[in-house]
Amino acid sequence: MSTQSAEKKRVLSGIQPSGELHLGNYFGAIQQHLALQHEFPGEAFYFIANYHALTTLHDRERLRKWTVDVALDYLALGLDPEKALLFRQSDVPEVCELAWLLATVTPVSLLEKGVSYKEKVQRGLPTSAGLLTYPLLMAADILIYRSSIVPVGEDQVQHIEFTRDMAGFFNNAFGKGEEILRLPVARFSPGKKVPGIDGQKMSKSYGNAIGIFEEGASLKKKVMGIKTASIPLGEPLDPESDTVFALYRLLASPEEIEDMNRRYLAGAIGFGQAKKELLAKIDEHFEEARERRRELAQDLDRVEEILVEGARRARPIARETLDRCRDAVGIP
Ligand code: ADP
Ligand code: TRP
Repeated sequence: MSTQSAEKKRVLSGIQPSGELHLGNYFGAIQQHLALQHEFPGEAFYFIANYHALTTLHDRERLRKWTVDVALDYLALGLDPEKALLFRQSDVPEVCELAWLLATVTPVSLLEKGVSYKEKVQRGLPTSAGLLTYPLLMAADILIYRSSIVPVGEDQVQHIEFTRDMAGFFNNAFGKGEEILRLPVARFSPGKKVPGIDGQKMSKSYGNAIGIFEEGASLKKKVMGIKTASIPLGEPLDPESDTVFALYRLLASPEEIEDMNRRYLAGAIGFGQAKKELLAKIDEHFEEARERRRELAQDLDRVEEILVEGARRARPIARETLDRCRDAVGIP
């Protein structure tokens, strides 16, 4: 029975509660997570990576707030707790123990190759051991639930490769030919790099993000402030390089995109009007989710129940994997 449940196909991903989720997160990751809960012929596990967020966030109140916010966002956007588990990483602390076991077989040189680590060092962030060993914990997250598919953005693909390496090191060192830890595969949506209001990749660290649940005056200000080329009204606009169009493309129907494309090329629309139409699309797309989020925010006990229930169901799987690993290394 337990072996059978451990062999179920499982899709898993983690979301850091390190800021307000934005349209880049939505189109680059969340949309795929939500689709997979219906499409994937197995179980879907999504967790709020609060241990990971501690590598960059040392603010108790914000961590607590953003953790609840991620849960509210996912539930409002359509995560169905009947179809997918949603839980806090820290409610299954077994992952930290597995991360330690993985640390004992992983060369420091591998961790030092981490692109995301190197990038943070370059940006001058303080280099804690946690930042360097971030991939060990991420590997533990994936391996402890014996996940088969891990949908992530392109920037996380190296971490999945590391996870496969670490599982291999562990199996070689302790498996005696047996696959104790199952090697996962990444699944990412290529070509979906969502631009921010300055035209660079949208990111919470660049101050160029549009929040998924931003609305009203604040949303309008962001959309109207999107950087565009200075082209006089009546002149043709370039649909390929323009940020307003790039965002519009993500939200509009194929016919609407075609029509906007035609007006761009004909000089029949200015950036001001294009921004207004983009704003209307954002409002339309997220209207229902905003309403659901407002309702859920009134019932945080229900949200807590969902998270606790998610962990209650996920934890025995983690326990079972960890026990196998402990046994393999010689810890009773
Ligand atoms: P941020 O850059 O704001 O810190 P994260 O690194 O926390 O975002 O990203 C969480 C997930 O959202 C990742 O899977 C990442 O690939 C995806 N993502 C973030 N920004 C974008 C973007 N601009 N375009 C596409 N996907 C994105
Ligand atoms: N590192 C991932 C990110 O920043 C979040 C994450 C933590 C994760 N653990 C994970 C993603 C396990 C997939 C699987 O987006």
